[in-house]
Amino acid sequence: MRKLILLLGGLTLFTACKTNAPEPTGLVTKNAMVVAAREEAAEIGVEIMKKGGNAFDAMVATELSLSVAFPFAGNLGGGGFMVYRKNNGDVGSIDYREKAPLTAHKDMYLDSLGNVIPNMSTVGATAVGVPGTIAGVFEVHEKFGSLSMEEILKPVIALAKRGVIVTEKQAKRLEFLRERVIEVSGDSTKFAQVFVKGDTIKYPKLAWTLEQIMEKGRDGFYKGEVAEMLAGFIQEKGGFITVEDLAKYEAKWRQPVIFKYKDLEIISMSPPSSGGVTINQIFKMMEPYDVAEYGHNSAKTIQLFTEAARRAYADRNFFLGDPDFVDIPLDVLLSQNYLDERMSTFSFEKATPSDSVSHGAVEILESAETTHYSIVDSEGNAVSATTTLNGAYGSKLFHPELGFFLNNEMDDFSSKPGVPNMFGLIGAEANNIQPEKRMLSSMTPTIVEKDGVLYMVVGTPGGSTIINFVAQTILNVYEFDLSMQNAVNAPRFHHQWLPDMILFEEEGFSEELKTELKDKGYNLFEGPARIGGKVDAIRVLPNGNLEGGADKRGDDKAVGY
Ligand code: GLY
Repeated sequence: MRKLILLLGGLTLFTACKTNAPEPTGLVTKNAMVVAAREEAAEIGVEIMKKGGNAFDAMVATELSLSVAFPFAGNLGGGGFMVYRKNNGDVGSIDYREKAPLTAHKDMYLDSLGNVIPNMSTVGATAVGVPGTIAGVFEVHEKFGSLSMEEILKPVIALAKRGVIVTEKQAKRLEFLRERVIEVSGDSTKFAQVFVKGDTIKYPKLAWTLEQIMEKGRDGFYKGEVAEMLAGFIQEKGGFITVEDLAKYEAKWRQPVIFKYKDLEIISMSPPSSGGVTINQIFKMMEPYDVAEYGHNSAKTIQLFTEAARRAYADRNFFLGDPDFVDIPLDVLLSQNYLDERMSTFSFEKATPSDSVSHGAVEILESAETTHYSIVDSEGNAVSATTTLNGAYGSKLFHPELGFFLNNEMDDFSSKPGVPNMFGLIGAEANNIQPEKRMLSSMTPTIVEKDGVLYMVVGTPGGSTIINFVAQTILNVYEFDLSMQNAVNAPRFHHQWLPDMILFEEEGFSEELKTELKDKGYNLFEGPARIGGKVDAIRVLPNGNLEGGADKRGDDKAVGY
């Protein structure tokens, strides 16, 4: 079916704005593919598809496998977003974002003087939002799944029991974060142990929790024994989540943000993620320019992208929040007139300064351990999903009996309008804390069509950098003719309005280029900027084959057949 649709789509290529199709350099497969942060998770997703499961079954398997194979960000204790495109062109998305507990209120992280209490929204039980992942995968499975939950969960549980081999990169991160995990979860916690490359970490407690879910369905997590153990533990540690919060959690189907960029149609996540709206604004502000002619990562491209991002992030931080709680003027924010007006102050001669400059938020990239996976099945169904605990290991609170980490997603709310969160993002009233409200996200799971045909599945972790990195990856393929793998590996840069500075990946940008930008008034962050995003993407080649782009910055892997 996918091949037929591709062939029909191919007929329209003659009228397309861009017809180049760069030679693949990543893994190429004929039928199906999963690209994820760990090979073990991608393999289970592919195994499910080989057994006859579709991309949605593979989504459930990959998401839950990541909770075992990539506990930095893969989770049962967090949440995420998924955008899909079925082989008949139907698109949609689901929001399984965490939400604030019932007792939450807008000043919950402020002291009696109205100052933000350090660490309260980022570390330990007080930072935990109501987890959404299990509700999300069950919703997806109920609507689109074809295999039984038992068939999907069995290999995940087997992986948890068998264990996962520690990679060099994982060992380094475990060591880096060990003391902080011990501070929150105590020195008898699982990850207090020193793990080195080649060790196997087994997850028997997590396997037990997954078995409860396999036997009892979503109620095996949100009600009964597991829910009581979860809420009881969080409260004992000083947090706010109750069994009522868990029982009330629902994932929500949302209309994705859909827009055109030249001859592409881009489908991305709507609020409460800012990803789709912000990427839409960035692309539409860039569209009038001949980006390809400026060249990949040239001064002109970086200027244009930076100025679009500066303006889009300023809007993001002010207007966006949970659409069930705030009115977002999307009609205006996404109208071409408005965006043209926003760019009317842009000139290639000189940087537009952000309204005010905030330094001291350099740690914006300190922790960005979200994770993304992309899936295409043999029928041409596509899934783009980004899932997170927020920080690395989330709140660093590990449930000793249930075997997983809890998120610190409450920090994605604006604890106090005007005060930056851990990503340096300065929020406003639209993203204040209210009971049962979802915190604003930057996650940008995205699917791209070209001439009505599936063209790319893309997304990344990286906190506030996510939006820019997804946009740059799409531009790398479409405007600059890079293969999927090269597009993912290409050096990246980031600007988010405030702080008013461009961050560059350490390798890949010349001193000459940086001097040119400085001369035009751009502030460059001169330290070792940690560009943490690991883009995992799939491109559909003109002959219908799939090319994976698995980010070289992590242990990410494309697996397919
Ligand atoms: N926790 C990062 C995000 O949702 O954007």
